Amino acid sequence: MDTLIDSAVKVIKKSKYTTAFTGAGISVESGIPPFRGETGLWSKYDPQVLDLNYFYSSPKESWTVVKEIFYDFFGKAKANDAHIGLGILEKKGLLKEVITQNIDNLHQEGGSSIVHEFHGNSNMLVCTSCSFKDKAEHIDMSRMPVLCPKCKSLLKPDFIFFGEGIPPLAYQKSINAAKNSEAMIVIGTTGEVMPACQLPLLAKDSGATIIEINPETSKFTHSITDIFLQGKATEIINKIIKKIV
Ligand code: APR
Ligand code: ZN
Repeated sequence: MDTLIDSAVKVIKKSKYTTAFTGAGISVESGIPPFRGETGLWSKYDPQVLDLNYFYSSPKESWTVVKEIFYDFFGKAKANDAHIGLGILEKKGLLKEVITQNIDNLHQEGGSSIVHEFHGNSNMLVCTSCSFKDKAEHIDMSRMPVLCPKCKSLLKPDFIFFGEGIPPLAYQKSINAAKNSEAMIVIGTTGEVMPACQLPLLAKDSGATIIEINPETSKFTHSITDIFLQGKATEIINKIIKKIV
C-alpha cells in the first residue's frame, strides 16, 4: 500500500489542478451511515421517503423520516480527519475544489472553502410557496410536517429529492471542475447515482489521473481508477497528509 500512497502523493504534488469527488463514505467515520451496503440507510428506510412526489403527497410521513435521518441523527456529526485532510490540501494549494454528493456540510466544517454541493445541503429549509428560507436549527420541528412560519405552506430541506433537478450552479461548477482536473481524488462513493457519477468519467476523459479511496471496489475501480487506495478515508488521507506536509 505504501508504494501506492507514494504514487498518489507524487501525482498530487505534480498536478496543477487537483479536485476531489466525494460520497457518503467520507462521512461514515463521522458516524453518518452510507446509503447502500448492509449498514446503509436504504436497508432500514424506504428510499421513497426522498421521492419528491411522495414528499408532496404524504408530507407528514416523509418529513417524519427525513427529520429522524437528517436532523435528529446527522445533526450531531463532526468533520473527520478525511474532511480535515482535504482542507489542509486546499490550504497548501494542492486541492482546488471539492465536488460532493453529501448534504452534511462536513467539508466546510473540515476547512474546505470551495465545495460544490451536487445534491444540495441539509442545513437550510426553504418554503415551497413563499421566499422564506432559514437554517434548519432555527425552525421548530416539533410538529410534522414542518410548515413555513410565514405562510404556513410546507417547508422543504434544501437538498434534492429523487425526481428533483441538480442545483444549476453546482452542476455547472462541478462540470467545469471535472473538465479542469489534472487529478481527481474520488472518495467514498459507489459511483452508482446519476448524473453525479458522470463527473469522474468527465475528469478522466479530460485527461485527469483518478485516485480512488474506498474500502471496497466501486463502479469506477475497474474502469477509470488509476490508483486504487483500498481503505478507510481517514486512514488513507492521514497517510497522504503525513507524506505531503
Ligand atoms: N471510507 C471511505 N469509503 C467508505 C467508508 C469509509 N470509511 N465506508 C464506506 N465507504 C464507501 C462504500 O464502500 C461505498 O462505496 O462509501 C460508499 C457509500 O456508497 P453509497 O452509500 O452509495 O454513497 P454514495 O455513492 O455517496 O451515494 C450517492 O445516492 O442515495 C443517494 O443522494 C444519495 O448522495 C447519495 C447518492
Ligand atoms: Zn412560506
